[in-house]
Amino acid sequence: MNCAGTTDEILLEHYIRLYPALQKTCITGCSRILYAAYLKIMSAPPQPNPLPEPVPQLDLSAQYPAISGEIRTAVERVMASQQFVLGREGAALEEEIAKLCSVAHGVGLASGTDALILALRACGVQAGDEVLLPTFTFVATGSAVTALGAKPVFVDIRPDTYNINPAEFERRVTPRTRAIVVVHLYGLAADMDPILAFAKSRKLPVIEDNAQAIGASYKGRRTGSLGGVACLSFYPTKNLGAYGDAGMVVTNSAELAARIRTLRNHGQSAKYLSSEPGWNSRLDEIQAAILRVKLRHLSTWQRARQSHAAEYNRLFSQIPGVMRPLAPEGFEHVYHQYTIRIERRDALQKFLSDRKIGCAVYYPYPLHLQPLYSALGHKPGDFPHAERAAQEVLSLPMYPELRKEQIARVVEAVAEFLKC
Ligand SMILES: Cc1ncc(COP(=O)(O)O)c(C=O)c1O
Repeated sequence: MNCAGTTDEILLEHYIRLYPALQKTCITGCSRILYAAYLKIMSAPPQPNPLPEPVPQLDLSAQYPAISGEIRTAVERVMASQQFVLGREGAALEEEIAKLCSVAHGVGLASGTDALILALRACGVQAGDEVLLPTFTFVATGSAVTALGAKPVFVDIRPDTYNINPAEFERRVTPRTRAIVVVHLYGLAADMDPILAFAKSRKLPVIEDNAQAIGASYKGRRTGSLGGVACLSFYPTKNLGAYGDAGMVVTNSAELAARIRTLRNHGQSAKYLSSEPGWNSRLDEIQAAILRVKLRHLSTWQRARQSHAAEYNRLFSQIPGVMRPLAPEGFEHVYHQYTIRIERRDALQKFLSDRKIGCAVYYPYPLHLQPLYSALGHKPGDFPHAERAAQEVLSLPMYPELRKEQIARVVEAVAEFLKC
């Protein structure tokens, strides 16, 4: 064969050396066609490496295929019953969730926000009262207080757990304080013993905002059973999420449960007999049926979240500059979020987003700096731990179906960022 000469011919010779079968083709007369094909390939601009698969922060669609059969059966059951509001599914869910939270009563509601409003109201909070709550939380914790015409009195957080700091209560409490709301943020219980001791000394009810921590525990006791009454959200992104809005109040108090049952249904104490102003916050049957299916999987999903957190922790332990989430001795964290803390957080968020790695800031503004509460007259510096957390926290991908290699990719990207 004689194709030496031009650059193209030299290249062809090179390929023939690599792929000897070509020689045969060249000799049998197809060489020109093949030669042209190779030249085309060689002259094409080099293709960049395909981007690795995105890692979403949360991927509900990764969960659905495994449970779709059960969900369809459950929804079909509701359709067949033609009972859509406050029926058998809701009643069964109330019992099952109460059992999970180790309490006697559950009252299904339309959302977690409604659960907070009705729990506060059932505890006697009214216009003009003050309620202590953490400033570092989702706005619903505060807006539930505001909805009753009461005043939210913010409390700073502990910098290691992001939960309310009971050491701050003494300087925030006044004779008008009527209740304390604690939030178990990201899936970790607040440190309840000192909170309950303070509340007892002042005869104040404690309401747990357990929207993010269903299934978590504190010193062997489940969140939801620690204060007098607890509020759950089944917003779709929660660890136990509906396919729409839903919520629940859980409590050991038969009296509080009965009051909330009345309030959720226009204050009706009997059919068409209203004894006080209420409104419509009823749980719908389709959501209840879906939640009952998902509840059967919750402990498996919870273990998966905990194992992902352990893997993140293991990998991050080799990387200085990243503060991992704390799960103190005796606290069982359920990792609604896996939240790291890092300087240059905003730059890291952009770096990860550019690499198609999902991440989110919960929450960028503490409540005392929200325009909603400007009339309360707070200014930057009033709650330094919450303000710093708002600038430094970043929640990384976390959901039960997350894969080990995806976690490794996230951690590698954070490590790469830290080298810049
Ligand atoms: C801490 C906290 N409290 C309250 C809520 C309100 O729940 P929902 O969205 O079901 O009204 C949420 C959920 O978004 C939350 O995360």
